[in-house]
Amino acid sequence: MILVTGATGNIGSKVLRRLSEAGVETRALSRDPRRGETPPHVDWVQADLSDPATLPPAFEGVDRLFLLTGNVRSMTQLQKNAIDEAVAAGVDQVVKLSARGAQPASKSAIARWHHEVEIHLKASGLSWTMLRPHVFMQNLLDQAGRVRREGTIRAAAGDGRIPFIDTRDITNVAATVLTDPVEEHASQTHLLTGGVALDYNQVASLLGTVTDQEVSYVAESLGEARTRLRTKDLPDWLIDSKLALAEYQRAGGDTARVTHDVFDVTGRPPRSLIQFAYDHRRVFTEHDVASAAGGAVPVA
Ligand SMILES: NC(=O)c1ccc[n+]([C@@H]2O[C@H](COP(=O)([O-])OP(=O)(O)OC[C@H]3O[C@@H](n4cnc5c(N)ncnc54)[C@H](OP(=O)(O)O)[C@@H]3O)[C@@H](O)[C@H]2O)c1
Repeated sequence: MILVTGATGNIGSKVLRRLSEAGVETRALSRDPRRGETPPHVDWVQADLSDPATLPPAFEGVDRLFLLTGNVRSMTQLQKNAIDEAVAAGVDQVVKLSARGAQPASKSAIARWHHEVEIHLKASGLSWTMLRPHVFMQNLLDQAGRVRREGTIRAAAGDGRIPFIDTRDITNVAATVLTDPVEEHASQTHLLTGGVALDYNQVASLLGTVTDQEVSYVAESLGEARTRLRTKDLPDWLIDSKLALAEYQRAGGDTARVTHDVFDVTGRPPRSLIQFAYDHRRVFTEHDVASAAGGAVPVA
């Protein structure tokens, strides 16, 4: 039995589908299971990682745990609660969705929080595997409206190159690790990137090719990006984390490094950004498709 947290989200929902296709008995955890799909072999359980009293029924009989929560202020506590319950329930393996930059001294709070959870998991005595993805290609869907309206994308990454990864590849890695023998990935950290690092000028050019229009990159200063992000009503810690990431991307170096981990785990090369753009072409070109999808389109 595999327990999937974050099961209503971008990655967890796709992990569910992959496990279902593989015929694996899977339990999906959500605070509101009515929001989720129920493919074959999947059962939903209602639980809240912020409330440990709700967790024992969700973890009963579970062999493996996929651990993910969104970027919320309480992320470390939510995930530590899940790890502690996994210990109590005798779970064999925890696969944690972390982040590329998970380091104790990161300027990004999100990266520091992921690191803190990783340390807690390593100290738990459970068998662990960390998945550390780089920036999701799907983040570009947030810019689809701007692409349609004015033929631009905006970022504060300067001309830094980023090995964007398609969340479908992260999903395939997660499903593989969760169904391979536990010892094959035990105590391993997989750094997940796309196959090539691109700067935003190159991203704009590819989006222009796919959408048959001129798309240009508006390179923002960090201050301009902060002003734009403030209009979205985001908390300061999240804005600060996004801008810290942009600073790393501007500086280049290790953040542009491409890894082979997607291929090594799944036997398939990661999807390219041009393939991602074609698969989501209608979101970048048709207003109705984008509105219905709410900006996050789970194209299979
Ligand atoms: N975007 C990027 O470029 C990027 C890059 C690297 C790493 N990451 C990491 O990826 C993760 C986000 O993945 P995603 O986009 O798939 O997430 P998402 O779509 O935002 O989904 C978040 C999930 O967390 C669950 N959740 C939140 N609070 C919960 C609680 N108290 N109890 C139980 N479940 C709770 C939600 O479930 P319910 O609401 O149904 O309860 C939901 O399914 C973050 O950790 C982020 O740091 C992102």
